This record gives sequence, structure tokens and C-alpha cells, in this order.
Amino acid sequence: MHVIHLSVECFPLAKVGGLADVVGALPRYQRELGIDAWVVCPYYDRPFTRDENFLSIAKGSFFQGSEELHYEVLTEATGSLGFPLYLIRIPGKLDRQEVYCYPDEAEQWIAFQHAFLHWLKNSQIKPDVINCHDHHVGLIPFLTKHADDFTEFEKVKTVFTVHNGQYQGWMSWSKAILLPRFDTWKWGLLDWDGLINPLAAAIKCCDAFTTVSVGYLQELYEQANGLESLFSSEAAKGYGIVNGIDDVYWNPAADKLIPFHYDIESSKSGKSKNKKAFCEKYGLDETLPLLTYIGRFATEKGADLLPRIIVDIFSNPDNKISIFILGSGDMQVQTDIQTLLVAYPNQLTAFFGYHEALAHEVYAAADMILMPSRVEPCGLNQLYAMKYGTIPIVRGIGGLKDTVRDVNEKDGYGFVFPDATTEDAVSTIERALSYIGQQEQMQRVRKKEMELDFSWDKSARKYINLYSRL
Ligand code: ADP
Ligand code: GLC
Repeated sequence: MHVIHLSVECFPLAKVGGLADVVGALPRYQRELGIDAWVVCPYYDRPFTRDENFLSIAKGSFFQGSEELHYEVLTEATGSLGFPLYLIRIPGKLDRQEVYCYPDEAEQWIAFQHAFLHWLKNSQIKPDVINCHDHHVGLIPFLTKHADDFTEFEKVKTVFTVHNGQYQGWMSWSKAILLPRFDTWKWGLLDWDGLINPLAAAIKCCDAFTTVSVGYLQELYEQANGLESLFSSEAAKGYGIVNGIDDVYWNPAADKLIPFHYDIESSKSGKSKNKKAFCEKYGLDETLPLLTYIGRFATEKGADLLPRIIVDIFSNPDNKISIFILGSGDMQVQTDIQTLLVAYPNQLTAFFGYHEALAHEVYAAADMILMPSRVEPCGLNQLYAMKYGTIPIVRGIGGLKDTVRDVNEKDGYGFVFPDATTEDAVSTIERALSYIGQQEQMQRVRKKEMELDFSWDKSARKYINLYSRL
């Protein structure tokens, strides 16, 4: 079976969040299970594309509106990723440094999807399944079934994976002239509430859609940023498959990015050595429990709650704790935290920006990780944290609810709170503090969570079973 994953992020080529981690790992695990899985991404002008050896394998051109676009397909020549990676370069559109936030993003992703189909059409490549990831490539299920120039793909199965239903890729109907020609009677398949909505189009036209946890699939019927009724009416095509951990890269016993390696048995001493090194580097007291937040400063992550949570935690003198924040995004959140850095110089430290190696160090050093998410389709932070023996304190929603069990439940190993509010987060951090003060209890919980099996193997198999059923 031949499957092509289509995505605008893929680790280590281009990562903004968990989408990259999934697309950079799932195909490798699928190949280990015997299917021919590839990844196709836009080309980025980034260290990975500059340092690795890429070969040009195809060229072509097409019209996007009145503009003729020339594309080139490059492939990573050494096979170092464990799966074939193809990049589509279009001068002026798909050759930039950043993944998102350009004003012509709609034009970029339309061009990517058109070039992908144009390349396939003019090659011998015949995938059985195209697995599209998130709205950026949401037009593919529509185009393979209804674009005049791509009728040969009508029978290729399309699976659409929803990593985040909050973002839908909305564009005005004025962009329709940029799309490959299609039967205009079919316009309704692209439309949602008067806009072209690539996520909605994908759900309507795909053969199956998946969400990155079972819990999130259920939540989409109730809360999907306007698409609730669509997800409900298409529910028969929906499957929840939880993300896994790439244990080649996320494994405290072999992680090249952390100072001291450890496994379950040596986790107590291993973590304290990492913590000591980390606290020395960042001016924190290594004898206090270390709480962290790693992630985008976005409303869906509850990042706007952080400043208030920090103030409330530190204003109670019984809370002996250090906090380290690693993140970027909303500038108001960053500014508020910057102010608090001055108020709590030895208790609070932060790094604003994206720093892959630092994230690994933090997972290894921290005692607890906080995720006060409003929406969390899966969440990889809590999975990585648990693998590194760091206790998750999470709002029970989506993938967090599915993967973290509260210590008050049978066989529990984390802390779960019901609402994304400051009060819930603070009282749960305090509950965790009293718990981890007791060394033996803490070590038992740590062992339990490090033993959990969130490897990709099981989930990769579920994707393959789904492809086979289509
Ligand atoms: P999302 O994809 O919604 O941002 P996930 O929990 O699925 O959330 O994945 C986040 C990924 O991004 C993890 O690999 C996490 O370690 C990483 N990450 C997030 N913010 C940063 C940052 N500032 N520096 C380094 N890694 C980060
Ligand atoms: C999205 C979601 C996150 C999920 C990730 C990978 O970014 O917000 O919860 O873990 O995709 O699937």
C-alpha cells in the first residue's frame, strides 16, 4: 500500500507545533509496519534544506489565476529521516523561512496543493491513499474528486486528519479563480457560511477523517468553531486515533539534547541531576519543586491565564516552588510574564521563543508541567513530559482527558482539573505540591507514568487498518 502524507509542517524540516512531530514520525512507524509511506511538504529556506542533500526530480508549471507558477520537486537523497521526503519549491511562494503568517498564505497553500496534483499527474506515482493533515491541504479531497484536470485521481482515497479544528483556512470567494478549474455546480462543497472553508470542504469530500484523540472527536460535535453540525452529519466517516511518541527522539535514556540520561529505574537520580544542571543555568533553587509550561502562547492553550496563575501561586507563602516558562506567541502574555520576571527574580524564569533543545532539557529537569488548555485535540507536551517522568497538571479536555488519569482515580498518575480557570489551575498545582512533597509517593507516580505505552506503533497500525478498509 502506498500512502502520501501531505502537510505544511514536518519535523525536522519545519516545526511550529505538534503537527510537525506527528508528520515527522508516523510515516516511519507505518513503514516499519510494511506500507510505503511518503511525506510531501512545501520547500522552506531553512537550515534543514540548506544542510541536507536534496536532488531535483521534477519540474512543471501551471496557471494560478493569470499568474504562471513554475515548480520544482526535490527529494531528500540520504534517507536519513526513515521515510522519503519530497519538497515542492515555487519561487516567490514556497521558498520562505517561516511556515505561517504571510499575508498571501491562501495563495501559498493553493499553489502547494495544485503543484502536488500536477506533479503526480505527470509522473508514474500512483498513491492508494493521500493522508492530508490540517486545513492547509484541505482542498485536496475536493480537487481529487471534482477538478477538471485531475479526474484520474477520483478513485484515490483521501483521509483527512484534523489536528486542530479551530483553524479552518477561511478565504473569500474572490480566491476561487486561483483554484484549479472545477465543475462550478460543485461550489457548495467548498462553501461554509459564505466563505471558502478548506477544513469544511475536506470533511465533506474526504473518504474518512481522523482526529488526534478519541475525546476530541466527540468534542467536535459540540464545539468546532462553527462546524459542529458538519462534523455531526459526517460522523460516520470519523475516527479518533491518538497521537504517539517518537521514541527515537523522545527518550530520556538516549536523548542527545539532555545532559544526563536516565531510565525508569534511574529516574530519581537522573532527573535530579538534570534539574540541578538546569537550575544552575537559569538561577533557580534546585531544592524547590520545578513547574513548567512549554508551548504556544495562544488562547486555546489557556496561556492568557499564566500571569494570574503565577501571581496567585507566589502570593501564597506556603507554595514553595520555582516556575520556568518556555513559549512564544501572544505578545500581551509575553509582556505580562516579563513584568513578573522582575517581581519574582529567583522564582520565575522564562525563555521567549522557540527552542527545541531547551524543551528537551526542561522535560528532563522539571517536576511538573502545566497545561491549562481550553482546546487540546491531543497534546504532545503531556506525553513527552510523562515519558521524562514529569508529572502532568492538565485541564481535562480532548487528548489531555484521554491520556492523563488523576491520582485520585485507580492507577492514576497525574493531576486533572475540570475548567480552564485560574482558580482550578492554582488549586490543582497546590494539590500536586502537597503530593510531590512526599518522595516515595512521587517516585511511584513517576514510575507509573514512565511505564505507560504511548509509542506510535499502536496508532500507526490503526491508521493502516483504516486505509485498508476504504
Ligand atoms: P500544539 O501543536 O498545539 O502547539 P502539542 O502539544 O501537540 O501542541 O505540540 C507542541 C510541540 O511543540 C511539542 O513538541 C513541544 O515540545 C513543542 N514546543 C512548543 N513550544 C515550544 C517552544 N517554545 N520551544 C520548543 N518547543 C516547543
Ligand atoms: C495540534 C493540536 C495538538 C496536537 C497536535 C498534533 O497542534 O493543537 O493538540 O497534539 O496538533 O496532532
